[in-house]
Amino acid sequence: MRIVLVGPPGAGKGTQATRLAEKLRIPHISTGDLFRANISRQTELGKLAKSYMDAGNLVPDEVTIAMAKDRMEQPDAECGFLLDGFPRNVSQAEALDELLKTESIQLDAVLDLEAPEDEVVKRIAGRRICRKDSSHVFHVSYSPPKKEGVCDVCGGGLYQRDDDTEETVRTRLEVYHTQTEPIIDYYKAQGLVVTISALGAVDEVTERALEALEALK
Ligand code: AP5
Ligand code: ZN
Repeated sequence: MRIVLVGPPGAGKGTQATRLAEKLRIPHISTGDLFRANISRQTELGKLAKSYMDAGNLVPDEVTIAMAKDRMEQPDAECGFLLDGFPRNVSQAEALDELLKTESIQLDAVLDLEAPEDEVVKRIAGRRICRKDSSHVFHVSYSPPKKEGVCDVCGGGLYQRDDDTEETVRTRLEVYHTQTEPIIDYYKAQGLVVTISALGAVDEVTERALEALEALK
């Protein structure tokens, strides 16, 4: 399957994407994780992305689209993928459409995770991620690691993301409403949007997502 996951910051996209990708046997492609991997390797792309991310703004389309395209062209993405955090505005959605068209493939669904603002703020405030692999995500109260400050998966140290400060979160939410939400209408026009609530336990949300995707078949 080829799926786009959309939803406000902190809705649980990364958390659900990891699980859904495993169940559906498709790679989880997160542009946020790709940028963070570049930041930790101190690449030129990482240096550029960090300044935008720390302010809560979108990284420019040109570099983001090139990075996403490069990742989608890897052999493991030939039979499907779950995009998390891309596209994030209408011009990225148009670029993705172009790419899919040249490869004669289509999206199967755009899964829209809906969560109220007070909940996403709580989720972001308690989030801790792994230094070794930013797809290993915990929450100090909702899904605490077995040992405080240590990743259950790989033993890496846990830290709070630089863009999880109150001020940056406010900007990220605004950017979501003004720039990312319009892609929901863009994809509604293509009949691809499936909206589910992101509230409830992580497992419940995964079940809800799988049922919604199953219903499309
Ligand atoms: P990105 O990394 O994509 O961040 P985001 O969209 O802001 O989303 P988050 O990672 O904050 O949240 P999430 O929805 O994945 O939630 P999570 O699963 O972690 O992007 C970061 C930045 O990179 C952007 O601001 C931008 O600068 C740049 N960028 C990325 N892509 C770009 C693009 N395409 N174009 C331009 N710039 C781009 O969950 C949150 C917390 O809640 C965790 O602690 C988790 O444990 C907990 N949790 C999850 N589910 C539940 C549940 N059901 N119940 C209780 N707690 C839960
Ligand atoms: Zn880890």
